[in-house]
Amino acid sequence: MQNLIASSLKYENGSLSVLDQYLLPHQQLWHQCHTVDAMKALIISLKIRGAPLIGLGASLLIAHLAEQGMAKQALAAAIDELEATRPTAVNLMHCMAALRQALQQADYISAIVSTAEQLFIEDIALCERMAKRGAELISSGDNILTHCNTGALATAGIGTALGVIYKAQQQHGNIHVWVDETRPLLQGGRLTAFELARWKIPYTLICDNMAASLMAAGKVDKIVVGADRIASNGDFANKVGTYNLAVLAHFHHIPFYVVAPVTTLDVDTQCGSDIAIEQRNAAEVRGVSGSFGDVIWAPKNAHVYNPAFDVTPAKLVTAWIFDTGVYNQAEVAQGVLSTLK
Ligand code: MRU
Repeated sequence: MQNLIASSLKYENGSLSVLDQYLLPHQQLWHQCHTVDAMKALIISLKIRGAPLIGLGASLLIAHLAEQGMAKQALAAAIDELEATRPTAVNLMHCMAALRQALQQADYISAIVSTAEQLFIEDIALCERMAKRGAELISSGDNILTHCNTGALATAGIGTALGVIYKAQQQHGNIHVWVDETRPLLQGGRLTAFELARWKIPYTLICDNMAASLMAAGKVDKIVVGADRIASNGDFANKVGTYNLAVLAHFHHIPFYVVAPVTTLDVDTQCGSDIAIEQRNAAEVRGVSGSFGDVIWAPKNAHVYNPAFDVTPAKLVTAWIFDTGVYNQAEVAQGVLSTLK
């Protein structure tokens, strides 16, 4: 397989490595990953995360194993096992479906390798296209609120929602970002703040529960978020807390945009209530862990509710920014999303 290098995933000279996103920004540790069990553990622990990147990491591993001579049946089992690691983000399923098809080819090794390479290279191009379309909706002077991490760390390219912000800053300048910390796993506080600082884009970090008063004070011009799965009616799942922002945006008449590649669109899912929502470990809510160590502040056995994602209904979305175009409420209500795939 050719060398493929992204911010947090790389295949270089026959070796696959993943940047540990759980330890960022205070430690930059790359894990070499050459087995299915190792990749499963990295995905489940969110060391590799972000809808597009999970699918790409799993794909590069399958391609590597195919090149190493893993038998066809074992490859099929590995694809199934990796697909089951996280149930909400559909990009993983999209990638595994492409690899399953490649596995049916007579020369399945080269088919799998070229499919994985194409998925990686395509993701870079998809990010560019989304960013270009999204930047047209942003103006110089905008204060943009975003949630979770949707940047270069979460994709092979410049990101989805954060890619739009990056492009808008390059094209118009004078952008300021309100970064939701994003409890429980703090992808905003740890990763988005890190990426914006690296890109020299002015930002201010807030706790998630500060967004309402900021909006009431007129300090948020636009909200731009990513997605893990978009149903054909436009409802979408994204990091838990996104729905809160959509409701607040509606109340305060603030444009609310969702940015995603077509690989995040699931036309087989009719509406948001059909999307499987991943439930995660109680320890993530009872405290925190990461490069700052393990801290538990709640009672050790506190009952916890910890869905990783929530669903935002289409009626709260101002526009859907895809690589193929920007679609409004009327177009989505008429079923445009089912025609994109
Ligand atoms: O649990 P995570 O960190 O993988 O969740 C990530 C998100 O919710 C992102 O907003 C989404 O994957 C879009 S990223 C390009």
